[in-house]
Amino acid sequence: MPAEALPATASPLARQTAWLKTYQFALRLAEQGKVAAVGDGIAWVEGLPSAAMDEILRFEDGSEALVFHLGSRRIGAILLRQSEQLTAGTAAILTGRRLDIAVGDAYLGRVVDPLGRPLDGGPPLPASPRRPLEAASPPIIGRDFVRRPLISGNKIVDSMLPLGKGQRQLVIGDAGTGKSALALDMVIAQQGRNVRCVYVLISRKRSAVVATIEALRRTGALDYTCVVVAEATAMPGLKFLAPFAGCALAEAWMWVGRDVLVVYDDLSTHARTYRELSLLLRRPPGREAYPGDIFFLHSRLLERSTCLAAHCGGGSMTALPIVETEQGEIAAYIPTNLISITDGQIYLDPQLFARGFLPAIDVTRSVSRIGGKAQHPAIRAEAGRMKLDFLQFLELEVFTRFGSRLEASIEAKIRRGRLLRELLKQERLAPLSPEQHLAWLIAYNEGRFDGLEGDALMTALATLLARAAASPLTLNDGREAWRRAVIEWRKPP
Ligand SMILES: Nc1ncnc2c1ncn2[C@@H]1O[C@H](COP(=O)(O)OP(=O)(O)OP(=O)(O)O)[C@@H](O)[C@H]1O
Ligand SMILES: [Mg+2]
Repeated sequence: MPAEALPATASPLARQTAWLKTYQFALRLAEQGKVAAVGDGIAWVEGLPSAAMDEILRFEDGSEALVFHLGSRRIGAILLRQSEQLTAGTAAILTGRRLDIAVGDAYLGRVVDPLGRPLDGGPPLPASPRRPLEAASPPIIGRDFVRRPLISGNKIVDSMLPLGKGQRQLVIGDAGTGKSALALDMVIAQQGRNVRCVYVLISRKRSAVVATIEALRRTGALDYTCVVVAEATAMPGLKFLAPFAGCALAEAWMWVGRDVLVVYDDLSTHARTYRELSLLLRRPPGREAYPGDIFFLHSRLLERSTCLAAHCGGGSMTALPIVETEQGEIAAYIPTNLISITDGQIYLDPQLFARGFLPAIDVTRSVSRIGGKAQHPAIRAEAGRMKLDFLQFLELEVFTRFGSRLEASIEAKIRRGRLLRELLKQERLAPLSPEQHLAWLIAYNEGRFDGLEGDALMTALATLLARAAASPLTLNDGREAWRRAVIEWRKPP
């Protein structure tokens, strides 16, 4: 009986014996190539005419590489593992396999590299089930509209730039404007919300990697998060693969009906790594020396995040790609690409950051194109009024620079706007629940904060938020109930 015909419960020995009995000697031909040159994380290999794109090559010293460029005489491969012995002349064979990564709940709370190897010194991870790093995005028929909210815990995002589960929202801004801090806060805000998270760190310094993992661990967010790391010192091949590995991990959870949030920190470094690899492999450079398919690379990554329809399990993958701009230039090549791929962007402004308006989100240049549908009607109604006030204030504030005398009504609006700006500031690692959002929005719209300044304002806000957190009311309880129970703590002046 052949080994495949044995029952599933058959012992490994029985399987082996069955396999031996039916084994037939046959002539097998295999190609063997050899390395022509190696360096900069790239290997040029000769003598493998039937190599396919994206196939894994194995070298006799144990190194591995991914076929990335097919030339007429040589193939170019990006190295995934490299031993000291790998030099010109080392033999190479084709494995016929494509890259995949083990997935599943064992990855929660773990820090892994893009090939799924643990980096946290913990126990080894199970080898199956596995998912390919590159997979087709879900078909249109299998997708649903984005209609469930993803709570970010951030005052500005949840009120003015609401996110829905399955949305792809770009976080964009200059270096050091708080992009990673914002994304990390959103991961931390998922505590107790039954959302799994994947945080992908691409080409970060070890200090930044450790700080991120520590923040996750300290807040308890690591329990529902997997961190995929390709440090700055890692091989370029691993940095290139990191977002795809994170995506594959998230996708596995999405397909079993879970909600997942995945952060790619950041895709501008990823683009630069891809450019570096492509130039080393002598691909023709295009705009800003990036290879021509850089748009395709990022779009096929982000297309995989979506909200699945009920007949596909109803899971979702929300993506927060981060991109860095130079001197606020959002019209550069990679930022415009990503803006056009995603469903909206959160723009972080260096000037707001310098003035201490943290998080430095510039509302006028940020947008969420689909999340509004997912926002709770109670919050939408309150936030609409507040947003109008805030945008009007931003326009009017420009006039105050000239120092001219203003009408009393305009002055009142500006005073209220300044108050609102203070209220919108938010510390790191202090996410708000939707109920707390509703409470402060109603309190602001009712004018309960008017006349307060500085510490008094912060104390009033903190008291209100604490009352809202302790209150049994939910978002569906109606404005009146909220007003009476939580907001009436302070009579308008
Ligand atoms: N809401 C906030 N409150 C206080 N400090 C903040 C806030 N957001 C960010 N910061 C501080 O701003 C600094 C820069 O933040 P962060 O590293 O997240 O920026 P970044 O845009 O990711 O930078 P990089 O370009 O280096 O990745 C950090 O020191 C962080 O602690
Ligand atoms: Mg950062």
